[in-house]
Amino acid sequence: MQLLEANKKNIAFAAEVIKNGGLVSFPTETVYGLGADGLNPIASAKIFEAKNRPSFNPLILHIAEIETLNTIAEWKNPNVEKLIKKFWPGPLTLVLPKREIVPELVTAGNPTVAVRMPDHKVALELIRQSGTPIAAPSANRFGQLSPTDAQHVVKQLKNKVDVILNGGQCSVGVESTILEITDDKIYLLRHGGLILEEIEALVGKIIIKPHHASKPNSPGQLMFHYSPSIPMKFLSEASLGEFKGKNIGVIFFKNKYLKENFAFEKILSPTGDLREAAANLFAYLHEFEKEKIDVILIEPVEEKGLGSAIMDRLKKATNKYK
Ligand code: TXA
Ligand code: MG
Repeated sequence: MQLLEANKKNIAFAAEVIKNGGLVSFPTETVYGLGADGLNPIASAKIFEAKNRPSFNPLILHIAEIETLNTIAEWKNPNVEKLIKKFWPGPLTLVLPKREIVPELVTAGNPTVAVRMPDHKVALELIRQSGTPIAAPSANRFGQLSPTDAQHVVKQLKNKVDVILNGGQCSVGVESTILEITDDKIYLLRHGGLILEEIEALVGKIIIKPHHASKPNSPGQLMFHYSPSIPMKFLSEASLGEFKGKNIGVIFFKNKYLKENFAFEKILSPTGDLREAAANLFAYLHEFEKEKIDVILIEPVEEKGLGSAIMDRLKKATNKYK
């Protein structure tokens, strides 16, 4: 594994690695991706291997030019153009009927393909120079925390990737919002960095797809996902009582509203800004994992705007320890 600064020369080198069927972890505005040539099934298979990912989980293809979308997907719904025009590049993934050229492995046998154009210079340049859509899940081991800086990738995937491009911290910090678009309907598959309210303002009401826990469309729909290695629960009088006398790590949303001192404590956003909170969330959880604590108690946030994406991840992470 080579950890390289994301400069021009190293991006060109990483693009060669992609072209030759290798694995490159790269920064996007949401989280770091674990990328391979998305039209090469053998290269893409390495992703599942590296992540220890159940093979029923399809991958997102990352593109740098709108024209590429036509070569990998087809659609009739006119909302697709509207959404792309307004939100790409950005934290929005569209699931559309796939074209033949997209390997079955990438879509896990689904007739649809997930596509997004990341809003990050390094990612866009890497995709352009690779000359192919880059298939990339978040660059974490399956079920673990998503990486929001290069060190998080090093920690989880050190010996599993050829190159990690270090482009600093991700500005959004939670994964993209995923919409499935059929001829006449739009479904939300995963809350994410683009808030639902903004999307609905453009295209009207969106249907939230119910969970099918046994055969999820999206691992985002699995009940235990995004879990830190230390037990995590929501902060409440009950959870504080339950862990009395133990080493407790606490994550507050906006301010420390409890008098007692805890073994480790942090505030997601002192200004109460959900964007900042989302950007810090995974980074903080990675920090808490390194501390000698028995439990992480985290303050819930209001389920509005980005708060829905944050709570979605927290509910999944805390479910494991119920
Ligand atoms: O922000 C992001 O989306 C990041 C960065 C790297 O782009 N990527 C990411 O990928 O979060 P991943 O693999 O961790 O999550 C992608 C989600 C999965 O839950 C997957 O099941 C879903 O997208 N997905 C992909 N293709 C799909 C399809 N054809 N139908 C339904 N869901 C799909
Ligand atoms: Mg993921």
